[in-house]
Parts: sequence; C-alpha cells; structure tokens
Amino acid sequence: MIKEKFNSMAYGKASESDKEARLWLTKHQSKFGLFINGQWKSKAKAKTFATTSPATGEAIAKITQATASDVDDAVKAAESSLQEWQSMGGHQRSKCLYALARLLQKHARVISVLESMDNGKSIRESRDLDIPLAARHFYYHAGWAQLFEQEFKGYEPYGVVGQIIPWNFPLLMLAWKVAPALAAGNAIILKPAELTSLSALYFAELSQKAGIPAGVINIVTGDGSVGANIVEHPKIKKIAFTGSTDVGRIIRRATAGTGKGLTLELGGKSPFIIFEDADIDSAIEGVVDAIWFNQGQVCCGGSRLLVQEGIANKVFAKLKQRMQTLRVGDPLDKCIDMAAIVDQTQLERITKLVKQGAQEGATVWQPDISMPLKGSFYPPTLITDAGTSNVCMVEEIFGPVITAITFRTLKEAVALANNSRFGLAASVWSENINRALEVAPALKAGVVWINGTNFFDAAAGFGGYKESGFGREGGFEGMLSYVKPLFLRTLADTPKEIPSPKKSSSMDDASYSLDRTAKLYIGGKQCRADGGDSYDVFGSKGELIGQAALGNRKDIRNAVVAAEKATGWTHYSGHQRAQILYYIAENLSARAEEFITRLKVTSGVSANKAKTEFELGIKRLFSAAAWADKYEGTIHQPPLRGVVLSMKEAVGVLGIVSSESSSWLSFISLIAPAIAMGNRVVVVPSKSMPLVVTDFYQVLETSDLPDGVINIVTGDQNELTKVMARHNGIDGLWYFGSLQMSKEIEIQAAEDMKRTWVNYGKEYDWTDDAQAEGRNLLQKTVEIKNIWVPYGDQI
Ligand code: NAI
Repeated sequence: MIKEKFNSMAYGKASESDKEARLWLTKHQSKFGLFINGQWKSKAKAKTFATTSPATGEAIAKITQATASDVDDAVKAAESSLQEWQSMGGHQRSKCLYALARLLQKHARVISVLESMDNGKSIRESRDLDIPLAARHFYYHAGWAQLFEQEFKGYEPYGVVGQIIPWNFPLLMLAWKVAPALAAGNAIILKPAELTSLSALYFAELSQKAGIPAGVINIVTGDGSVGANIVEHPKIKKIAFTGSTDVGRIIRRATAGTGKGLTLELGGKSPFIIFEDADIDSAIEGVVDAIWFNQGQVCCGGSRLLVQEGIANKVFAKLKQRMQTLRVGDPLDKCIDMAAIVDQTQLERITKLVKQGAQEGATVWQPDISMPLKGSFYPPTLITDAGTSNVCMVEEIFGPVITAITFRTLKEAVALANNSRFGLAASVWSENINRALEVAPALKAGVVWINGTNFFDAAAGFGGYKESGFGREGGFEGMLSYVKPLFLRTLADTPKEIPSPKKSSSMDDASYSLDRTAKLYIGGKQCRADGGDSYDVFGSKGELIGQAALGNRKDIRNAVVAAEKATGWTHYSGHQRAQILYYIAENLSARAEEFITRLKVTSGVSANKAKTEFELGIKRLFSAAAWADKYEGTIHQPPLRGVVLSMKEAVGVLGIVSSESSSWLSFISLIAPAIAMGNRVVVVPSKSMPLVVTDFYQVLETSDLPDGVINIVTGDQNELTKVMARHNGIDGLWYFGSLQMSKEIEIQAAEDMKRTWVNYGKEYDWTDDAQAEGRNLLQKTVEIKNIWVPYGDQI
C-alpha cells in the first residue's frame, strides 16, 4: 500500500473546511442588504439575485440589486462622513487602516474560503495570495495615511469616490482601491462585481470593527447598472474602475467633461517572452504561473507566449508534459492547480474564442487530464500555429489559454510583444541580465517581470499603457490618484471669448509685399501650411502685425510623423536634454528685447509685465532643465529577494494646445517639462497671439534641438485639436481652452485611451510656480513602468 502510494505519488483530496464560512452565511440567513452609513440596509421589496458557486452551481446567497436611490443614499452618507473622517487627520486614519490590515489577517481563513466558494478560485491561491496581499495593501497604506500631511502638501482628497471592481480578485481589487482612498481621506462607494460580492460584504463588517466612522465605506451591490449610477452621480468626484476595456470606454465617455478624477485598469494581452538562453525549466513553471494562475482570469496574465525559434520545439514539448500534470478540480481542495471558471458566460466566451482561433487555422492542444464532470471548468490550453492576427493572439480570452508564436531576433521579439493594443504587463526570460534589461524598457507595458511573472506588491504601482488603461494602483503614484492639487479650487473660468482686436490699421503696402507670414515648424524646418492659407494677426491695439500659417489636418499629420521619428530624443540622457534646454534658454535670453517687445505688442501688457513674463519663460526652461536629470525613478524593495525598478518613461508623442489668453507663458510652461522628460511634442499655440511662439522656433533652430522634437502648427485651435484627439499617433493630449472642447477630447480619447490633461474651461495661472512647473506638472509627462528583477538566494 505504502509502496503503491510512493510509486504513484498521486495527490489525495485535501479539502479546506467551509464550516466557518457557512456559519457566517447562516448568521445573515444567506441574504445580504446594502452596507450604507455603517449599517445593513435591506428593504423587503428590494430586488435580489443569487450568487452561485461556479464549481458546483449551488446558490450560496442572495445579494441585493441596488437602485439609483440606494446609490444616492450611499453618496449622502459618504458626504456627511467626510468632515469627521478628514478632520481625524492622517495618524488616526492610519490606525483605522492598520486595524483593517490586522482584521484581514485574523479572518484570513474564512475570507479565503468565501472567496473560493464564490469565485471558484483555488483555496491555495486565495489563501496564499489574494488575502495576504490585500492585508499588505492595508499595512502599506496605513503608512501613507500616517505620512499624509507631510508627503502630500498642496493636495487634498477628492471627497466622495466611486470604485467599481471585477470578479477575478474580489477582495484584492477592493483592497487596491479602498486602502489608498481611505489613506488620503476620501469616503467610498464601492461596487463589487455581481458575480462575487461576498468578500466585500464580509469586509463591510470588518470595517465596522476597525473604528472607521459610519458612512466612510459604503458597499452597494448589483450589476453594471449600479456601476453606471455611480459613474454618473454628480457628487462623486472620482471614479476608479477595473474591468473590461469596453466598459472602461463607456466610463471614459460618461465622465468626459465633468472634471471627475478617473483611473482605469483594463484588459491585457501580455507577452511572455522566452529567449534561447533562458532557464527553460524555470520558464515552464513561469508559464504555469502566468496563465493557469486563477484559471487565466488575470488582466496581466501572460497569454501570448513568444519563444525564440531555436528552442521552440523543446519548450512546447516540455510545456505539454507539464500541462499533463496539472490538476483541475474542487476550489476547496488544497492540492489542485486550477479550479473553476467564474461562471457559464465566461466559460462560453472562452470556448467560443478558442473555437474561432482553430477555425482561423491555429492548432489547439489540451492535455488528457481528468476534468470535473459538473461545474464551470475549462482545461489548460496551448495554441500554436496562430499568426499575429489570429483572434486568440489578439483578443483578451481571460481564460486558461496561452497562444504561442516564435521569433528569431531580439528586435523581432520586441516588435511582436508590442504588437497589441494593450500594454499591461510582460515577462522576459533570459539568463543574460543585459538582454533582459535591454528588452524591458523597450516593451510598452506598465509592469515587466524578469525571470518571473505575476509578482505584485503594494509599494510597486500597477497599471497599464495604451488600451490597458491609465493611472497606477499601489506606490506613491497610486496615492496621487486619490488626491488633487489644492490650487484647482481657485481657478476661475476662462473668458468665454477672447475679444479679437478690431482691425484698425493695416500694414502699409510696402511691408505687405514682403512675405510676413510666420510658417509652421515641422521636423526642424519652417514650412508653409498644406493648404497654403494664412490669416491676419493683430496686435493689442488692433493693428495688423503679421500673418500666420493656417494649418490643417495634413499639417498635424506631418507634424506627428516628424515627432514619431524623433525617438532619439527619448533615448537621450537627462543630462543631454538638460544641456539643450539650458542652451535654448541662453539663446532666448540673447534676444530678450525683441521678445519683450513682441509680448508687449501682441498682448498689450506694460513693458515691465512683458519683461516679467519673458523672464518667467526663461525660468520655466531652467526649471525643466533642472528636473530633466532629477525627476527620476525609484527602487522598491518588495517582500521578495529582488528589486523593482520604477522607471519614469516619456509618454511618447504629446499634442499640446496652449492657452489662448496666455500665449507665451502657457506655451513655454507646457513644452519645457514635456520635452525635458523625453517626449516629442506637436504644439498648437494661441490663434490670436501666435507670433511670439513662431519667433521662438528661430531660437530652436540655433539650439541643437534634434529635428521633430518640437513641432508647431498654427491655426484654428478647435479644428486642430479635434484632429489631434482622433490621431492614433498621439499618445497624450494636453488642452487648455474651453469646457466643451475638453469634453470632446475626453470622449474621443476613449477610443485609444489617449492620456489626456484638459482644463475644463478653467483658467490656469501660468505665472504661479505651483501650477506651471514642478512635480505636479511633471507627473503628466511620464508613464511609470515597474520592472521586477528577482535575484538569487546564495548569499
Ligand atoms: P465588466 O467590465 O463588465 O465588469 C467589471 C465591473 O464593471 C463589474 O463590477 C460590473 O458590474 C461593472 N460594470 C459593467 N458595466 C458597467 C457600466 N456600464 N458602468 C459601470 N460599471 C459597469 O467585465 P465582465 O463582463 O465581468 O467580463 C467581461 C470581460 O472583461 C472578461 O472576459 C475579461 O476579458 C474582461 N475583464 C477584465 C478584467 C481586468 O481585470 N482587466 C476583470 C474582469 C473582466
């Protein structure tokens, strides 16, 4: 008998008890109301729906479908809690967060079981990953609460925030959202996913025990319509969402123009790259963790396997062998690798996509392993022979399915990896650290794991590039998503219309006969507008002072092409960029008189004011140069043997529409930090006062700035802004004009998840350093990429 066991080494069943979890459900008669203002609210007539165990189909409990008026009640409770919560100060809030962390640890077992029953995930994962990481987030953010007054000077919390989370990591996603929001002093309306509400409801009870004032945490349950009610509620000032890219788009559009803060953590199709010199056995285990962890229902799961050609056959053979040993079964069995898919709809979606992939010519391989006969399960699946356009290579399947492709060179690997509309995460496997560290910065992804996968920590921000959304969760940058600059309170509305000076005199015929038209500046060259048109520019007294080119769609297109080509600038060191910024400032100073006169004539300010404005422009250039090699990344030391390099990378090509009324200062304050951090820009300056900006390109021409880094297109701001908002080559768009156009930009940006920074029709004070330079502005110029570098354990 013993010999037999040793020979087979088969696992027996080792079930985790669900007794305690069931006792808790019974205590609530398996029926839950909403958690509002620190109390359970259940109305006799409230609509409910069943939450079921995907592994067995058993209906575990009844959950309430909140209505719009419930959401409104929750918002009222949250609003009225704010005063007490914020006046408690960081230290007292820290104590509450610490209490929550401790309570999560104390109740870890029962929550893990609830999570596994409700979601279908294996107890091994909920017990060892979901719940400990959730507790870690509360510990970490207890720290930020403690440090809040010192580290977030000049910022304030949003107030009431709405948080909408998905079903794949129910409590963990709650922790990622709730902990930073509380640390910063916000009150919360949280909606768990309709498929997995239980752990959030358990958490509601813990929050009562943690001494958090009533109304600070409100949990409303229900489907997407409740999410929509939250998004649209006018008193909710910030929305944080994790879920599908499609719903992310709906939310981007719904919040457009409202000025609500927004962070979106959306889908992914993350590459898992194995180079020839990788430790193949480790990499195979990596694949297991990348795509069969949580049944592949992981936004950052490594679902695209990129293998170097020379080792491909070996990797596929070993992988198949490993897949043959995976155990799929009961979530509460401690010895299984993969458990249930969250529900039938998701199972059908996975099945359909894999079928479609096969129809499109891919080879689908599944191991011959025993699968549960009942419940929602899908086998581990490897797809090969799929081209780059196969649906399984392109779409987020969100299931235990990995699609493989081979590559020959490092360059090809990077190109394939980046060939996706998503950009959430990536895994790089190579024993050559030089190679891995060369590839990591080249990948368009918010998180890169070297020789590892699916590492997470509260100190290392998590979030995506491109259509994987924007904003980070965790780290200092995650805290920034829950605060806003204090100065925003003081901004006045922009004047409805800038009075255009009346034409009072024209240039005399002699001067008109000269070509006085300021040209566009594209790719380092002055050029005429595509349409050949120009428009008159008047001084403050109404006198005609020149003409400017009237740029159009094609000019923007050419400017974007020029900016896209200027990638060299992004690879310059901070020091090199600083030198050029200083040089620009020096050359500009040499022409001070001319610029001051121009400022005087165009905006009608006094000589003194024009001088101050000019000098502030020089100061902005110096400030940007100063930051170029100081606004740097950090190194995190998470609880693992290794480091996380948190790198600040340029956003890419930025479209910038500077303020109509502050032509010079807004222009210089925006472009200087943008290029200091390695971005290339396409700028549309003030229409009525473009000449001081077009004079500036003469300074650029003598300042060693590579061609294409700054491109200037004059003309109708609204028209050109619309073109930029639609242009896929523009990664981010900054706009300082009307509320209406701010809204249009945000709506349009939902298409490709462009990074946007708009002013909602408010007038920034470009003479104020707090608004026009420094860290607050610099954070808009970069994306944060966290590169995880684990190291050995010999010492
Ligand atoms: P989903 O995006 O519809 O649901 C996520 C959350 O948003 C849920 O709480 C849901 O109730 C809420 N929601 C739905 N419609 C809403 C609306 N109009 N306004 C506000 N909130 C709304 O995701 P779903 O349907 O559960 O899964 C569909 C696909 O989404 C999956 O197959 C997967 O590809 C992807 N997904 C990605 C996740 C990620 O972490 N990136 C997480 C969950 C799903």
